[in-house]
Amino acid sequence: MLTRTSEYALRALIYLTQNESDWPISGRTIAENAGIPAKYLSKILGDLVKCGVLQSFPGKTGGVQPSKPPNKTMLRDVLAPFEQFENRRCPFGSLECSDDHPCLAHNRWKHVVGSQDRFLRVTSVYDVAVPMPGSQSEGECRGMNEANEMPTAVLRSEHKVILRVIEVLKRLVARAKSGEGFEKHCLSRCVTFFQLFADACHHAKEEDLLFPALEYRGMPRDGGPIGCMLEEHRAAREFTRLMAEALEADEEDAFCSAAKQYADLLTQHIQKEDTVLFTLGDNVLTGDDQESLCGKFCDVGCGTFGGKKQTELAAMADELESRWPAT
Ligand SMILES: [Fe+2]
Ligand SMILES: [Fe+2]
Repeated sequence: MLTRTSEYALRALIYLTQNESDWPISGRTIAENAGIPAKYLSKILGDLVKCGVLQSFPGKTGGVQPSKPPNKTMLRDVLAPFEQFENRRCPFGSLECSDDHPCLAHNRWKHVVGSQDRFLRVTSVYDVAVPMPGSQSEGECRGMNEANEMPTAVLRSEHKVILRVIEVLKRLVARAKSGEGFEKHCLSRCVTFFQLFADACHHAKEEDLLFPALEYRGMPRDGGPIGCMLEEHRAAREFTRLMAEALEADEEDAFCSAAKQYADLLTQHIQKEDTVLFTLGDNVLTGDDQESLCGKFCDVGCGTFGGKKQTELAAMADELESRWPAT
């Protein structure tokens, strides 16, 4: 569903990432090796320089290279100059299709769009350009889930990891508020964990796999627990965005306010899922549904999120907790 221009932009970034030792690389070399018409590429590279994804170096040995390390350059950043991400209209039905006036496909289509958006936001150029050394094999991955057997048990165990980092976040906010110090580096690690482990991995399993399976078995999306959970995921994303922004701007009060709201929201959200939604889910999902979901969870868990495997993200929770233990 990407335009030709977007596809060329991605191809150029992938070529640059795979040939880091040659940076900066001329447009002509990229065009020849990545199979992109040179004139077309020159305009694309200019746009990527303008929006800060690439930096350019003049002269005979000049060229372009990524402004940030490729594992920090998300696919969405590369595509942003060429794609209309905001206010994307549903391609079916009328011109006025919206949440308030949905066409017949709107509610299903918006989840496809949401899932694509999430993939582009959390997948870096590095993730798609360079194979991960020692990445989880399917066997290892299946082994992780087998211990849990039920898909809701997998999600419940992820909740415990998320809650441990929420406790660290709360301790660090209390420390900042009491004037003992604003631990920016560790707070930034917490936010990265929430963005990648909680949102990109865990919420994706719920939104793209569990909730549609529950709907298929008759649980309504709108006006029921699924709709409520989706709304809370959206609010949680907004709080992580605010936390990241406040950290970037060194605004301690704004960070502490967003962090408190995030911690409160996600704690009660997890409690509702554990005690209500997952219990209902265990009753309506068939054995085949459960087995299929566990397999699909494995597929998600075997991926990388911002260049990190799920096990590496879980290790971040251990590291943060041991650095800032409960007293
Ligand atoms: Fe959730
Ligand atoms: Fe959850």
